[in-house]
Formats: sequence, C-alpha cells, structure tokens
Amino acid sequence: MQTILTLGLAALAAAAPAKRDTPHYPATSLSKGFLLIANVTDPTKDLSPSVNGWVVQTAHIGPPFNAAVLQSPGASAPGRIFYENGTDERVRYGQSTVITDGATPPSPFGILVQSPTEFDTLYPTEHDVFINGGPGTPASITRFPSPYAILQNNLGVGTFVACNNTIPYYGYKFITINYAYATFEGPDGGYQYNANIPEGCAPITLLPQCTTLNELPPDAYASHEFAVTERCYEDVAGIDWSRYGP
Ligand SMILES: *[C@@H]1O[C@H](CO)[C@@H](O)[C@H](O)[C@H]1NC(C)=O
Ligand SMILES: *[C@@H]1O[C@H](CO)[C@@H](O)[C@H](O)[C@H]1NC(C)=O
Ligand SMILES: *[C@@H]1O[C@H](CO)[C@@H](O)[C@H](O)[C@H]1NC(C)=O
Repeated sequence: MQTILTLGLAALAAAAPAKRDTPHYPATSLSKGFLLIANVTDPTKDLSPSVNGWVVQTAHIGPPFNAAVLQSPGASAPGRIFYENGTDERVRYGQSTVITDGATPPSPFGILVQSPTEFDTLYPTEHDVFINGGPGTPASITRFPSPYAILQNNLGVGTFVACNNTIPYYGYKFITINYAYATFEGPDGGYQYNANIPEGCAPITLLPQCTTLNELPPDAYASHEFAVTERCYEDVAGIDWSRYGP
C-alpha cells in the first residue's frame, strides 16, 4: 500500500506541468485563534436563506451547556473565538479538542460531537454538536497532506451539516450544527458508501478563519498554554472555490 502510494505520487509529480497558472488550493496563514465559518459543500442542498459564510455561535441551553449554531455574521454575531488545545503528542494521535472560552472567569468550553450511537432527542436520526463546559470530544484542524484546513471530528468519518431545527429549551428554530457519520456497508453486507445527510440539512465544512486569540485575565480557569498553531484562512467569504480543486 505504502509503495503503491509512493509510486503513484512520483508518477503524479513527473506528470505535473513545470509551471501552473493558478495555485490549486486557497492560501492559508497560521494562527492560534480562529472563527469557524460554514462552507456549504453541496449548494443544491443549501437552506433558504443560504447559510454559506455563516459563523459558529453558541446558543445557551442551561448551564454549562450550549448548542452549536450558525448565525449570519454581523455585529450581534461576531462569532466565537476557538483554539485547538493539546500537547504535540495528543495532536499527533488525534486527541486534541477545539475550545472556546466562556463564562466569568473565562473557562474552557469544548466542541462536543455525539458519537455514532448517540442521537438528538427530537430528531432521532441526527447527531448533535454541543459547546459545553469541559474539554469536548477529539477534533482538530486538518493538516498537510490535506489540501484544505477544515474542522475534523475525530470520532468518525462524515460531515458537519446545518439543519433548521427546533431547540426545545427555546421552543423555536435555530440553524443548528449537527454531524452526519458516513457508513460504508450496504444492506447485502457489501461496500456501499452513504453520507447519511439528514433530510432538509445542508452538508457543510467548518473552515477556520484567522483571528487573534483572546487574552485571559489572571483568574481565568481556561489556559492557552497548549493552544496549537494551525492553518487558517484570512477571509473565507473571499475564496472563489471555482479557481481551486484537483
Ligand atoms: C466549499 O464549497 C464549495 C461549493 O460551494 C466547494 O466547491 C469547495 O470544495 C468547498 N471547500 C471546502 C474546503 O469545503
Ligand atoms: C426554518 O424554518 C422556519 C419555520 O419552519 C422558516 O420560517 C425559516 O425560513 C426556515 N429557515 C431556513 C434557513 O430554512
Ligand atoms: C489542554 O491540553 C492540555 C495538554 O494536553 C491538557 O492538559 C488540558 O487538560 C487541556 N485543556 C482542556 C480544557 O481540555
């Protein structure tokens, strides 16, 4: 497998033209702090109004719990500032988590994705994403050789989705962030890929947009000692995706 991969890459490199007119992937910078911006990856499944370019916010659902939601960016929804947290070793083994500081004094609230066997109570086919007090579940910003920097749920392969869901705590609708785990087995037991995108939800990637990591007061419970420097985009909305790709 390793050999085939290496040979394949060598062949690709040999076949690549010496000069390219356009870069193949959007440029990234490096930062510890980032916002998370939704990119609708299948525009035919977008919601109305479109949620492309919306920012990740928290919707309080009782201390210390929050639903992860998307809001149209603006003064009232500047977007939460996130950082990836963990030692180099934890990052290498996919054990880092992605955190935002909340409450007073500032405390860590980690992105927590339900596992493949946990479901929303109101939408029993959907997996929730919370931003709760505590470390959260394993997640990271993808690194080389992934050409794109995106938020990855390290509990399982799949995609984040944006759904127009009622949050029982409020009794009205939000654009909630949920997660769809992909499955790879058909009814006959053979290989069959299914993205399992819930009806009425838009598949999205969450892209880190570089921002300055917030300062912490001396009495903070949160710590940035293990905040990881990751790739991020300066302006997600300004990326013209038609110029990029394999
Ligand atoms: C963003 O969405 C566009 C489609 O609207 C897609 O072509 C592109 O690959 C997506 N980029 C990422 C990093 O998800
Ligand atoms: C969400 O649903 C509500 C009511 O069902 C509707 O008024 C609203 O336009 C929907 N929003 C989106 C983005 O689909
Ligand atoms: C941040 O990472 C460090 C190092 O891995 C760990 O000791 C600490 O508990 C993490 N913080 C949270 C809130 O998970």
